[in-house]
Amino acid sequence: MTNIKIAPSILAADFTRLDDEIERVLKAGADYIHIDVMDGQFVPNISMGVPVVESIRKTFPDAFLDVHLMIVNPSDYVEAFAKAGASHITVHLEADKPEDISLALNMARNCGVRTGLSVKPVTPAVALEPWLAELDMVLVMTVEPGFGAQPFMYDQMKKVAAIRKRLDEVNPACDVEVDGGIKPDTAPIAREAGANVLVAGSAIFGKEDYAAVIKELRGR
Ligand code: DX5
Ligand code: ZN
Repeated sequence: MTNIKIAPSILAADFTRLDDEIERVLKAGADYIHIDVMDGQFVPNISMGVPVVESIRKTFPDAFLDVHLMIVNPSDYVEAFAKAGASHITVHLEADKPEDISLALNMARNCGVRTGLSVKPVTPAVALEPWLAELDMVLVMTVEPGFGAQPFMYDQMKKVAAIRKRLDEVNPACDVEVDGGIKPDTAPIAREAGANVLVAGSAIFGKEDYAAVIKELRGR
């Protein structure tokens, strides 16, 4: 039985009460805190950066901070996010030249941080091949990156299944994370396809009972 991890995305949280929101969602059973970093270049939105990771790490020394860099030239910032307290850093394959993606991942690893590579909906699974054996996680976007509360892209499930199958051959311990449009009705579809880490923002934050939603997304 695969152990499913739930990663609430604070992009959807009330930023005026971020410590309460994180406290609440951790108490409700969240495994990771997903931090969506956007630079206004790689995606047409600007969200949060290193200072936010620093203050979350200070207040929550034991939380697993799953940092999703939706930024260009990630190798310029990986060390700063690692130093700020990221537990895991995911960069986008489309964000730089292949050699600089490798550089970003090696820098993160040298900082003792777990590493992930993410693909936009348009990018095929095969593009990940050169890095699959070395990653701790692959993140398959199930929306166009940049905004929360978008509809789930069901056509990404074939990609999730293909990546899970390939990982079972070359790197079975590597997690498969999905991000975007994960709700109680789409979570089972993503789990079925092979995702074992589910990012959810608008499905959780703003709801009455965080524990109930997290339990539903986890599927037991
Ligand atoms: C997109 C963001 C969102 C966010 C989750 O760039 O990464 O996917 O984490 O948003 P929801 O769960 O509201 O679709
Ligand atoms: Zn994300």
